[in-house]
Amino acid sequence: MLFNFLTIFPELITESLNYGVVGQAIKNKYISCSVIQLREFASDKHRSVDDKPFGGFDGMLMKPEVLGKALEAKRHTKILFPSPQGKPLTQTKAKELAAHDEITFLCGRYAGIDQRILVHYAIEEISIGDYVVSGGEWPSLIIMDAVARHIPGVLGNQVSLDADSFSNGILESPAFTRPQVWNDLKVPEIIVGGDHAKIKNFNEWMSLLVTLKKRPDLLENLDPKSPLGQKWQNKSKLKEFYNQLSIEDKKSCALDTMETLLNEI
Ligand SMILES: C[S@@+](CC[C@H](N)C(=O)[O-])C[C@H]1O[C@@H](n2cnc3c(N)ncnc32)[C@H](O)[C@@H]1O
Repeated sequence: MLFNFLTIFPELITESLNYGVVGQAIKNKYISCSVIQLREFASDKHRSVDDKPFGGFDGMLMKPEVLGKALEAKRHTKILFPSPQGKPLTQTKAKELAAHDEITFLCGRYAGIDQRILVHYAIEEISIGDYVVSGGEWPSLIIMDAVARHIPGVLGNQVSLDADSFSNGILESPAFTRPQVWNDLKVPEIIVGGDHAKIKNFNEWMSLLVTLKKRPDLLENLDPKSPLGQKWQNKSKLKEFYNQLSIEDKKSCALDTMETLLNEI
């Protein structure tokens, strides 16, 4: 899969591509990235990419002629404009985007871009959250990373993708490493016990409890026919699971104040 970045700050992108999962994926040729300087498409001697907005508004806008020239060669690709006005990025959206062969990110700067670019190229806008950052480079990198994780081979171990938060609609259960006891906080017995079926069952109930505590909105969209959805429907079993947890387990998993919440469901 190829990702193109159209930007006035190419180094900001190229430097970020050297690290972690994405860096490895590029090295192993699961993905490739092309970073294109938008100023190359400017026609004046200062290589200007921006101009004053009509209407006397503050700030500058990226010019349609420059962006248009840069986008012409990428018309065959899926073009995305990271924007606070777009639909929020979700795990489902990232997975959907991973089906494309080539994605082009148009990285906005200043006060944004001329609206007509979005109309003319029917560009999809995607937001990384309800706040504004100063440029589209970071949002593009975030979207690219989230998409790349869904490309087979990018994550050496596919299991970690399936276990990630949101992959099955809810949050991942708490995770622990050595030592078994740290600052009087103990790793739950079941997790160190080695019985994989018991660990799986334990983690599923834990995921439901963690989601109920941190992101109860996610539980509303859980498919009632899915195995997790069925567990969620069984409220008395969920309460029973919680009640049989030891005080230590509840404490280590930060679930020791859930009685009121559980009484309300
Ligand atoms: C300073 S922002 C411009 C915001 C614009 N004036 C608005 O209110 O919609 C500059 C660029 O950063 C990017 N950006 C800012 N916040 C973003 C967000 N939450 N999600 C995705 N991209 C964002 C966009 O590419 C945007 O064009």
